[in-house]
This record gives sequence, structure tokens and C-alpha cells, in this order.
Amino acid sequence: MNISIIGTGYVGLVTGACFARLGNRVICMDSDKRKIDLLKDGVMPIFEPDLEKLVSIYTKQGMLEFVDDVEYAVDKSELIFLCVGTPSGADGSADLGAVKGVCRDIAKAVKDYRVIIEKSTVPVRTNEVLNGLIREETAVHCDIACNPETLKEGTAIHDFMNPDRLIIGTETGGADSALIRLINLYRNIASPYYIVDINSAELIKHASNAALAQKISFINMIAQLCEKTGADVIEVARAVGADKRIGRDFLNAGIGWGGSCFPKDLQALMYVCREHNIDAKLLEAVYCINEGQRGRFVDRIESGLGGLEGKVIGVLGLSFKPGTDDMRYAPSIHIISELMKRGAEVNAYDPKAMEKAKELEEFFGVVYCKDEYQTAEGVDALVILTEWKQFEWLDKIELRRIMGKPVIFDGRNIYSLDEMERLGFAYISIGRKAVNSGSVF
Ligand code: UDX
Repeated sequence: MNISIIGTGYVGLVTGACFARLGNRVICMDSDKRKIDLLKDGVMPIFEPDLEKLVSIYTKQGMLEFVDDVEYAVDKSELIFLCVGTPSGADGSADLGAVKGVCRDIAKAVKDYRVIIEKSTVPVRTNEVLNGLIREETAVHCDIACNPETLKEGTAIHDFMNPDRLIIGTETGGADSALIRLINLYRNIASPYYIVDINSAELIKHASNAALAQKISFINMIAQLCEKTGADVIEVARAVGADKRIGRDFLNAGIGWGGSCFPKDLQALMYVCREHNIDAKLLEAVYCINEGQRGRFVDRIESGLGGLEGKVIGVLGLSFKPGTDDMRYAPSIHIISELMKRGAEVNAYDPKAMEKAKELEEFFGVVYCKDEYQTAEGVDALVILTEWKQFEWLDKIELRRIMGKPVIFDGRNIYSLDEMERLGFAYISIGRKAVNSGSVF
């Protein structure tokens, strides 16, 4: 099929490359000409495993094309996917400016029937707004559908090809030309389909992300209780998660969720609830617990070290999670700026996110290191903020030798208490007992 993808961010690029891999001719359109020029030269604006390879293969085969011309994209495609950002507005609502803008541009350019598909996460009933915009601009009949993305950064290509479920919402919620085209598009993907009305499809995405964020905040609340009572959150999560009704995924306690989706989607869902006079206290609590995790972690470092003034802290991991260079709403932003505000010097290392981190004002003053060992040299404490696999396999004996003091604050619970105890580290993690803390502080 001939497809256009409007917006070449994480979602748009992965979606475009994967549709090309499924045998479609794909045009990726973005109004940012600089970005399009880079993409034409094979330069990815983001890091996502295997994306560069996929883009290169299908561009060479002529199945993937990058343009900044919306008319061309609309003219050549029967399916047009909206993959532009929906960031949080000042009041927490989803800012639909970009979605509305491109929808208007599409409507102005359209000469024949097209299906316009919401791939970006949008609040429930956005389709009604978009429908209105299209009708204002053109008399040509177009259908709107919603096929929300469910990709996790770091494994996005795998997630696209092997989804848990495909959600397709259309205006009729049943057999219609938009649905038939979308089912045809996904015919080679083995996955259960959820064919629903378009309002439900929009809401499914927000509800899914809220449910995941809620699970994490729940286990983080339990982790606080573990720290006060001597229970171990990993043991608790393992047994709680073994109940099939609950499930073990997304029960890892830590310094909380970040990224581009959970924070803004939760805010947007709270906003929609408020608009409909629905009590959103549950979601507010989910949000508050998450914010609290970061602050509490900094307080723990400060009290553990007897103050932060003049202390040198080595930070391992900056991105909001492993496998990505994405710094959006990363816990590291709050934690590092707070450590520096309270007087600490910060050395930092991340395998992928340092270039993006350097652009952030909150990180001015951070010293970037070439690897984990340089980061650890002479520090008063090492702090782990992202659970990159390579941090698990560090030579701990060498680390202990080069650190000023053998103190680790682990915000992602990557090491075993037994190992840390045996090697003589003071080791403070989340929701687990502190190890050797008396002997070091
Ligand atoms: C999320 C959704 O998972 C995906 O379906 C949606 O389409 C986009 O948003 P993503 O933001 O890429 O994907 O990351 P995800 O893997 O869900 O992690 C989100 C955050 O939660 C990360 O900061 C991660 O560190 C944190 N997390 C995750 C935990 O703190 N504990 C967990 O158990 C799981």
C-alpha cells in the first residue's frame, strides 16, 4: 500500500521504517527541512536500536522516502498516519496544535478519498475536532481512524513487529473502508485485533499508559514501606506479580517513570477527567508518588553522606530508561540538578544520552566522563540512575579500588545485596535494606 507518515519523531520514524519492511511504499513527511535533509543522508535524529539499519535498507530499495512537502505526501498515499507530537500544555491538557495544523494541511491538499489515522496519543474525542477541521477545508470525503502506537523506546522495532495487540478504532467501529484498509495493512502481523469505535481507541491508549504508571507508583509506595519495615521490595514484587491477575511486569521499584509518554498522558487524562467532572484523585496520587521518588532519593544521598556541600558524586545513567538516548522527563534531570543545587560536584556517564544531556540547562556544570570507571574515580559516592545492562557487569573490585569512598546509591536496584555486602560497599537501593551503611558513613 502507499502510506504517508506525518512527523518523523520516535513514533513516526519507527512506524515508517516498519511499514516499509512490511512491503509498503512509505513517504515520511516532516515540515522540519533540516531533519529531512539529515534523514536523506542517513543520519538519525534519535537513537533507537536497529532503526538506522532499517531506514538505510528501505531507502535504498526505494520503499522509504523523506520529504518536507505535505501535498506530495497526501497525493501519493491512501493512508496518512498522524505521528506528530502531543506535548503537555501549560494546564496539563494535550497540546493538539501540531495535530490540528497537519490535519488542516492534509485537508487543504486532499483531492480524493483518504484515510487519516491518529497514531500519536490523543485525548478521547479528538477525532471529532479533526473531522470538523477537515470539513471546514474540503468537501472531499475522508475517514478518520485511530490506531494508537504501543511502542516502547529501546525495543520499538521489535514491539512494532510483535505487538501484544492491535487497536483499530473507526468512526463506525465495524466494517467500513478505513477498517478494511487497516486490517489489510497489518495482515502479516500476528496479533489479536481490538476493533472498536474511535472514541474507545483514543481512550484505550491513555488508559493503558495510566494503568502502567499506576503499577509503578504502587510498587514505589510499597517500596517506601519496605524501607521502613525491613521487607524487601524485590521479594514482594516477585510474589505479588506471580498472581496472574496482577503480573510481574512494571513492578520494578526505583526512582520512578519518565519519558515522553507517561507524564504527559497522565496529565492529559487527568485534564479530561476534570473536564467531565470526574474525580481524578487516583491519577493525581500516581503522579505525586512518582515525583516524590526523585526527591526522596536525593534526600537519602544527602543524609547518607552527611551533607552534599563539596562532595563529588559520580552518576551512571542519564536517559529515562536503558536502550534510548531520550532525556525527556528523565529522573536524572531533577536528581542531578538538585545534587548540584545542594553543593555537590557531579561527574556523569551514559552510553547513549550524553549529547542530548549536554543541551539541557539543568546539567550545566556536569563533568562528562568517557566511561564508568572514569566517573567513579575518587568520588564520595556513585549513584545509579538508569539500569543500562553494562552497569551490571562492571568490575566491582576495580570500582571499589578507584572510588574515594565505596558508597553506591542505586536508584534502579541493579545489584544484589549479597554481592555488595561481600565486597564491602555501603549500598543503598530502593525498597531494600541498606548494606554496610554503618561501617562507611
Ligand atoms: C511507554 C509505554 O510502555 C508504551 O506502550 C507507549 O506506547 C509509550 O510509553 P516508554 O515511554 O518507551 O513506553 O517506556 P516504558 O518502558 O513503558 O517505561 C516508562 C518508564 O517507566 C521508564 O522511565 C522506566 O524506567 C519506568 N519503569 C518501567 C519503572 O520505573 N518500573 C518498571 O517496572 C517499568
